[in-house]
Amino acid sequence: MTGRLSGKVALITGAARGIGRAFAQAYFQEGAKVAICDINIERAKITAKEIGDSAIAIDMDVTCQNSIDDAVANVVSQFGRIDILINNAAVFTAAPITEINRIDFERTFEINVAGTLFTMQAAARQMIEQGHGGTIINMASQAGRRGEALVSVYCASKAAVISLTQSAGLNLIQHGINVNAIAPGVVEGEHWDDVDTYFAKYEGKAPGQKKAEVSKAVPYGRMAIPDDLTGMAIFLASEEAKYIVAQTYNVDGGNWMS
Ligand SMILES: NC(=O)c1ccc[n+]([C@@H]2O[C@H](COP(=O)([O-])OP(=O)(O)OC[C@H]3O[C@@H](n4cnc5c(N)ncnc54)[C@H](O)[C@@H]3O)[C@@H](O)[C@H]2O)c1
Repeated sequence: MTGRLSGKVALITGAARGIGRAFAQAYFQEGAKVAICDINIERAKITAKEIGDSAIAIDMDVTCQNSIDDAVANVVSQFGRIDILINNAAVFTAAPITEINRIDFERTFEINVAGTLFTMQAAARQMIEQGHGGTIINMASQAGRRGEALVSVYCASKAAVISLTQSAGLNLIQHGINVNAIAPGVVEGEHWDDVDTYFAKYEGKAPGQKKAEVSKAVPYGRMAIPDDLTGMAIFLASEEAKYIVAQTYNVDGGNWMS
């Protein structure tokens, strides 16, 4: 298959559904071989089948070092190497400061922050061994740009992703590995079922109300769909982006300016 990512191999975490799934599909259409890595292996298998022949599903839990190492080794054994990593797996949580608990905090930071860091580390080691550089894209969020009254833990986790992207970007460019991040605003998908549940609980909103409100507030005029983000993910993995290092790009319909 020809395309802007022809012949490249991409490992995408949390790609069974949502934005990660859209990335996998878009990369496949651009000629990449894609590994759909997710803790939800049944869903990952369905997604891989829907995408096509050179898509594979891999059982991966980004909170477990053995699972990270096995996923990287599995991709290398099936596709020969890794050129692109998208650190997309994450969870959302919300609570007022007075009600946050350690279990939620630790789970969120294990997945969103430690998962991003140690998957980045494993992929970077592999890319360095290959000797041809690579691309790492971390999924941040507008939530990482500023705090939100009920979303402190998730916001802090995404601020950490932006910071890790800066440090890793500076550290890994000597190996020709470009590390950058994408900060979406609000994106349509099943993730919103969780968000809505939290806001129903803490703000007494009717199901769907929070989603409708944030959607209306986007300057572009609507919430994003996952495909609104794929252009940036393709660009950051392409030759055209090789001089871009340690940046976080807002792709959010105008929600945030920085
Ligand atoms: N949807 C939005 O509005 C929005 C906005 C800003 C940023 N983001 C970010 O974009 C990314 C994708 O968001 P989404 O809405 O598609 O999320 P989603 O919840 O739909 O999908 C997340 C995927 O990650 C997987 N996952 C969860 N824990 C895992 C683990 N421990 N190991 C491996 N996989 C795991 C899930 O099974 C799921 O398939 C996330 O990083 C999210 O924080 C989303």
